[in-house]
Amino acid sequence: MVKAAKRPSVRYRCAECGYVSLTMVGRCPGCGEWGTMASEQPLRETRSPSGPISTNIEPISSVDVVPEDRISSGIEELDRVLGGGWIRGGVALLGGEPGVGKSTLLLQACAAMAVAGRKALYISGEESAGQIALRARRLGVTERNVDIVCETDLPAMLEASRGYDFLVIDSVQAFRLDDESGWAGSPSQARSVASISSDAAKRNGVPTVMVGHITKQGQIAGPKILEHMVDVVLLFSGERSSSHRLLRAEKNRYGSTDELGIFEMGEGGLEPVRDPSHLYWNRDGAAVPGVAVGVALEGSRPLAAEIQALSCATPFPYPKRTARGIDANRLQLLLAVLERRCGILSRSSDVYVNVAGGLSLQDPSADLSICAALASSLRDAPIPPDTCLVGEVGLAGEVRPASRTHLRIREASRLGFKNVVISAREKVTVPEELGIRVIKVFALSQMAERLIK
Ligand code: TYD
Ligand code: MG
Repeated sequence: MVKAAKRPSVRYRCAECGYVSLTMVGRCPGCGEWGTMASEQPLRETRSPSGPISTNIEPISSVDVVPEDRISSGIEELDRVLGGGWIRGGVALLGGEPGVGKSTLLLQACAAMAVAGRKALYISGEESAGQIALRARRLGVTERNVDIVCETDLPAMLEASRGYDFLVIDSVQAFRLDDESGWAGSPSQARSVASISSDAAKRNGVPTVMVGHITKQGQIAGPKILEHMVDVVLLFSGERSSSHRLLRAEKNRYGSTDELGIFEMGEGGLEPVRDPSHLYWNRDGAAVPGVAVGVALEGSRPLAAEIQALSCATPFPYPKRTARGIDANRLQLLLAVLERRCGILSRSSDVYVNVAGGLSLQDPSADLSICAALASSLRDAPIPPDTCLVGEVGLAGEVRPASRTHLRIREASRLGFKNVVISAREKVTVPEELGIRVIKVFALSQMAERLIK
């Protein structure tokens, strides 16, 4: 008689990716991380109950909808990215490279809460109270309602956060819980720290932000599950050489993930940038071949982006393609469209593209301005400086309509542009008082004919 195989009494699960192995291994076969496998007891099989099941199953239409209880963060750019402010009991994870300004932003967020008469608690496992107080002086934070605590006993500190209106935990990787194995910052520790913090936030109804470090690959360090455990994942980024800082939501259970918050790091901390177009585009420049301006939409905000292209003859058989601020594959594709649909060849040229100011463009409607910059550089003919371009470019060389073109045209007019090139398929009427001449083109080749003489 063949006996049924006995279920193993223990199995091993990767804290990083959740891979399950029946034997202990040092390196996870799923994600390749070392030291992330931990033993767990399999769940016991449950018998189906014999009596009637009582669960609160109800039609979705009969569930009461409770309006969200938003608390303005007091910082306009932060509210924009969050979708209107913090939510009671909501948990956010703020990621960013070391030194980008995460602690500064959150200390300012605490101060902004205090200005509105609310109490904020800053739990730090990274810096001493003295260091934070020094930063607070530098930022001019004098509010009495901002408390700091720098201890290692996180559960006790979370318990103490009960009476507060806002809580910051800096950072998930800095704390260690005694009843969990691993060193501080290890995947299992980070998961437990995030888990008890998020439980405390929900239990006490306190909006909570946790700081998360970033790996070399630009992801939040620790298990991916960390991002699933929170309601909002914010990423704070900025170039080392520039003082501009960009805040985006990677995930937002309560709002859109399209919005972009822009700050400038100065002597007195982070200042919101209210007119971002002037950051990325400077009107004083004379017309130079290879420069074109597009109006991209970042969330609900239009902003002018200066695209700079440089092409240079190369003696090598494989010309270089370098892109900063746009996707490198997109650059290859647009060069191919320019070659096949407009006869503008780049085979024997190195091509470099840069979006001024360190902006990273994700809006496909920037295509037309990228193509204009490329064509202008390859033909060595400047584009008139009072002209900007808006539209997506297809593989057939057609120019497609952009979203919310009226907003972009209004921004172009505000910045003093006189001509805007858009798709001929756009159904937009431009009020006369904007002083804008609209140039409609069906195809990329028409744009090249009109602008690049
Ligand atoms: P910090 O908030 O400590 O970064 P993180 O928590 O992300 O590691 O910010 C560190 C940098 O910001 C540091 O290089 C100094 C700079 N900074 C200013 O330029 N101005 C300021 O007012 C403050 C507080 C910091
Ligand atoms: Mg910090």
